[in-house]
Amino acid sequence: MNIVLGVGGGIAAYKAALLLRLFTENGHSVTVIPTAAALRFVGEPTWSALSGKPVHSDVWTAVEQVPHVRLGQQADLLVIAPATADLLARAAAGLADDLLTNTLLTARCPVVFAPAMHTEMWEHPATQANVETLIARGAHVIPPASGRLTGADTGPGRLPEPETIYEVCRHQLEHSGSPRGPQAAPRPDPEGDYSGWRVLVTAGGTREPLDPVRFLGNRSSGKQGYAVAARAAARGAQVRLISANVALPDPPGVQVETVETALELQAAVQAAVGWADLVVMAAAVADYRPATYAQSKMKKSHAPGHEDAAPTIDLVRNPDILAGLVTARGTAATPVIVGFAAETGEPGTSVLQLGAEKLARKGCDLLVVNEVGVDKTFGQDENTVHILRRNGQPQVDAGPAGKEDIAQTILDVARTVLG
Ligand code: C5P
Repeated sequence: MNIVLGVGGGIAAYKAALLLRLFTENGHSVTVIPTAAALRFVGEPTWSALSGKPVHSDVWTAVEQVPHVRLGQQADLLVIAPATADLLARAAAGLADDLLTNTLLTARCPVVFAPAMHTEMWEHPATQANVETLIARGAHVIPPASGRLTGADTGPGRLPEPETIYEVCRHQLEHSGSPRGPQAAPRPDPEGDYSGWRVLVTAGGTREPLDPVRFLGNRSSGKQGYAVAARAAARGAQVRLISANVALPDPPGVQVETVETALELQAAVQAAVGWADLVVMAAAVADYRPATYAQSKMKKSHAPGHEDAAPTIDLVRNPDILAGLVTARGTAATPVIVGFAAETGEPGTSVLQLGAEKLARKGCDLLVVNEVGVDKTFGQDENTVHILRRNGQPQVDAGPAGKEDIAQTILDVARTVLG
């Protein structure tokens, strides 16, 4: 694939060299466009040696090739790392004052920004407004990591690790079906009670591949998660939906990203959680995945005397994404985290008891418990749920009702936690 790597003028430019290597080692052709300030941190020879290509850094070189138009038009993905506050501002304003900003205007492929700057600059309303503008236009902005910054100070603003940025880009290349145009996402309803809130929803069920044709999966249809995303958007929220193997149309006004496996879902959630005020983890995530993946289709044994032999499939644990979000949040108030628990009940233990134990174990703010079985809930249009709250607050019951109505109740309760 043709990747354009834009490098902004920040100290983290050196990490972009590692990102460049990840792209080239995985067979991509990368054109690097450093800004003038980026070249003060890492020089042209580094970029051209690592990319194996001439470096384009200004609009006045090789003018006959019209690089300010060609590079953007031919790109399959444009990634900016580090994206400085200045670069985000110029991109949001649509300026075209250097080769990189020209390229941003001519590109019609997925665009990923990986911002890095000091905490104060990142948190400044001007920067946040620029990020919102870029997201509304369809760009993908990876929230900066928290940790040690250039000086002795710490806080959000670090460039995420090159592996994380690479995973997000790989994901965009594989899953963004149609190239994103520059058109704006529909404006959320400013009057809705979720106006100004950002909601991240996961939906569907992950698939864990065994070989190119088989997977371990589950019966989740994604209907409940899609209903939450649709209702949140209708109530004025900005909504991002991470969808695992769902055969439903995109809800209107919602930015949808598709994933297949639990590990992909984790990467997508990690990339988006810094943006979110509320996370609704409605996806049924596989707790285990096959320990090995067979590159070609697994065959039955026809060896004489072994016709009845069956393979043993070893499994390994998947990360608990929800529990990881709670741990990463620490003592911060946001994002508010909602988990789901699909329970079948057990002899001697009711579905509600299992739910209460799970709420305590996972540490999320709300747990939406529903009883499942082959004919219950999964794939059905109706649902009955019990929304468990922390700190001994009484549970809220909803249903039997349509999944849209259940979604409204979940959002009503979550709204009270958001404050
Ligand atoms: O433990 P259990 O799978 O029943 O928990 C369900 C909740 O935890 C759901 O909200 C689901 O999205 C989340 N989950 C997760 N990562 C896993 C398994 C479940 O985030 N590996």
